[in-house]
Amino acid sequence: MNLVVRNIGVLATPKGNKAKGGLQQGEISLVKNAFVAIKDGKVVYIGDETKKSDKDYLRENFPYKEIDAEGKLVTPGFVDPHTHLIFAGWRQKELTLKLKGYKYLDILKMGGGILYTVEKTRNATLQELVENAKKSLKIMLSYGTTTCEAKSGYGLNVEDELKILQAIKILNQIQPVEIVPTFMGAHAVPKEYKDKKEYIKLIKEMMPRIKEEGLAEFCDVFCEEGVFDLKESEEILREAKKCGLTPKIHADEITPMGGAKLAAKVGAISAEHLIHADEEGIEEMAKNNVIAVLLPGTSFYLGEDFAKAEIFKEKNVPIALATDFNPGSSPNESLQIVVNLACLKYKLTPEEVLTAVTLNAAAAINRASTIGTIEEGKNADIIIWEADDLDFICYHYGTNLVNKVVKKGALVWEVNV
Ligand code: NIG
Ligand code: FE
Repeated sequence: MNLVVRNIGVLATPKGNKAKGGLQQGEISLVKNAFVAIKDGKVVYIGDETKKSDKDYLRENFPYKEIDAEGKLVTPGFVDPHTHLIFAGWRQKELTLKLKGYKYLDILKMGGGILYTVEKTRNATLQELVENAKKSLKIMLSYGTTTCEAKSGYGLNVEDELKILQAIKILNQIQPVEIVPTFMGAHAVPKEYKDKKEYIKLIKEMMPRIKEEGLAEFCDVFCEEGVFDLKESEEILREAKKCGLTPKIHADEITPMGGAKLAAKVGAISAEHLIHADEEGIEEMAKNNVIAVLLPGTSFYLGEDFAKAEIFKEKNVPIALATDFNPGSSPNESLQIVVNLACLKYKLTPEEVLTAVTLNAAAAINRASTIGTIEEGKNADIIIWEADDLDFICYHYGTNLVNKVVKKGALVWEVNV
């Protein structure tokens, strides 16, 4: 089926198949009066409504279905490259503790935090996990997310980690948001393990099977004080690489650990959080093409500092943005609020932010050749906004500004009128 998105006021998109850093990150193509022609889920032509030859092109390619963008802003579908989507066990009870002054790591040490969610996730059936995540995916989609990454890490044993990854597989078949799976057995040390070494051994044993069964593409580690230290993280990520899982790392989130440097050392595709990353680590990331996945919603929610985006920019490290959606440090599915925070707290421009939630985010999950821009040959993942320009979506916060979402050429979400 052919589809044409017509009457686009302005089509705003980054271009290319590679993550962009430095000044290039702010280079956005703006096409006025555009239309996007789609065939078999892919963009086949981007035309100008006011040009006769382009109109002839449309006429010659009948029949097609048409979506009227009503002169609004159109961008690529948002890509959320860091979520902990699959879980049971929301943690609203922790809010009161937080207000009393308990810190995130204090709550984890008390046996709560991630470990609370682990207990609930272990007790949940596969079907329950699928149902929970389906609700969140529906919200994500309504806010413009057409692809997301999802990490395991609330199972922390063979059976339950596999259950989580299985849930991702099922969700990819029953709803429109594409989910890219990451194995994160190294999210915490489960209560039943007194000896961390034993648990690391188990993590390493799980990897070949996960890779073989096609259940994950990446492996992530929570490199943090009291969780996995630098040496342990390196050991896990090196093994992951051997098994064919691409390394990612939760780096320098709460405590400066040297995680950014480790990401570069092990050849990670991305390093995440990076609130306390030092300059040397950032330089190493630049040299080794590691993408910085920054999570301003988590800084906001934990009451932590914000990552120093200007240093990543200065050193030419491509910045991607993500929600970090999870029940503890970032109970939020919306990339729109992340866009607002990135402008206000990182001082990124609307153009840099757009690249961060599309092309760079796609690159952080190894999808930059198929998604992340609206260009001929790429998947037709498109947002039609209730906005006239890019500035508006960065400025107007707290409400959903999405009007319609197209995923692989199909209309998958529309605002209720
Ligand atoms: O990215 N840091 C570790 N993982 C998540 C939090 C997960 C949780 O608290 O449940 C994060 O902040
Ligand atoms: Fe995270």
